[in-house]
Amino acid sequence: MENQNINEIYENAMSEINESSTSEKLAELKIKFLAKKSVLMSLLSSLGSLPPEERKEFGLKLNETKAKIAEAISKKEEELRKEELAKKLASETIDISLPSRKRELGGQNPFYVVKDEITDIFLNMGFEVADGPEVETDLFNFELLNIPQDHPARDMQDTFYISDSVLLRTHTSPVQAHTMQNANGKPIRIICPGKTYRRDDDDATHSHQFAQIEGLVIDKDINIGHLKATLELFAKKMFGEKREIRLRPSYFPFTEPSVEVDITCANCDGKGCSMCKGTGYIEILGGGMVHPNVLKMNGYDPDIYSGFAFGIGIERVAILRYGIDDIRKFYQNDVRFLHQYRKKA
Ligand code: PHE
Repeated sequence: MENQNINEIYENAMSEINESSTSEKLAELKIKFLAKKSVLMSLLSSLGSLPPEERKEFGLKLNETKAKIAEAISKKEEELRKEELAKKLASETIDISLPSRKRELGGQNPFYVVKDEITDIFLNMGFEVADGPEVETDLFNFELLNIPQDHPARDMQDTFYISDSVLLRTHTSPVQAHTMQNANGKPIRIICPGKTYRRDDDDATHSHQFAQIEGLVIDKDINIGHLKATLELFAKKMFGEKREIRLRPSYFPFTEPSVEVDITCANCDGKGCSMCKGTGYIEILGGGMVHPNVLKMNGYDPDIYSGFAFGIGIERVAILRYGIDDIRKFYQNDVRFLHQYRKKA
């Protein structure tokens, strides 16, 4: 009867062990079947009531069964441990094949690329960067540049007025007057990049806001040769060593003589093409020798000092440099446009 009991316990134990699906459950079974107070172990106490010849066999059977159950439990333990580990690993894996979140890189506006390049070229020639207000007085924007109230040149530079005497500057030339007035009669060699405004109807080639780089050099014995050499060096650095410049007579109230400066067309090397309208030249800037009236009005004796000045349209240079077909693209900040000018690392 005890034998049958042992077998039954064994069968029970085995099926419960097999069915257990967690190590916690298995730990419970270990106690249930192998602890001192388990049914199996309690059978030991019946050992004494058996006839001596059966005792040995029963004892052996009991130990054997205990060992078998213990082995089954540890086997199952090992199995469950592996299973649980595998599950844990699976749940904690990081999918490194997932593409990372991309950071969108912007691009520097070609306007600023060109502004910085022009600035660097002049800094390397020993110029310093000067600054001046965008909201300007009539006095500085016009009067001190030899453009009196009723001067017809004012018509070419209509702007936005804040009041009768305060306006958005139409060019960076007022910085000439500010710089001269602040220099206490000392020699000057400055450039001034900055925003300028005119009342224009915006289209592919006109914008009510644009930017210039003003240049001003004042010293003793400055002549037009200095102007030409400076601008020639600028043209070659900016547009390539092969570029040549030519000066054409022009008119600005604040320079005398005044010139327009053209460079040989980079597209056709001066032979004439659609870009330069068959002339072989492209106009890039205006300049001239500082008018004696301007020197006088701003604190320099024109009998002792002379100087040259120039104004470069930044967008114009960028347009020529990059073949951009519409000035408005500089201000729209369309990333597709900006990406085209992203600097290569
Ligand atoms: N200020 C002039 C313009 O805007 C350019 C210029 C600057 C001409 C300096 C001569 C000297 O058209």
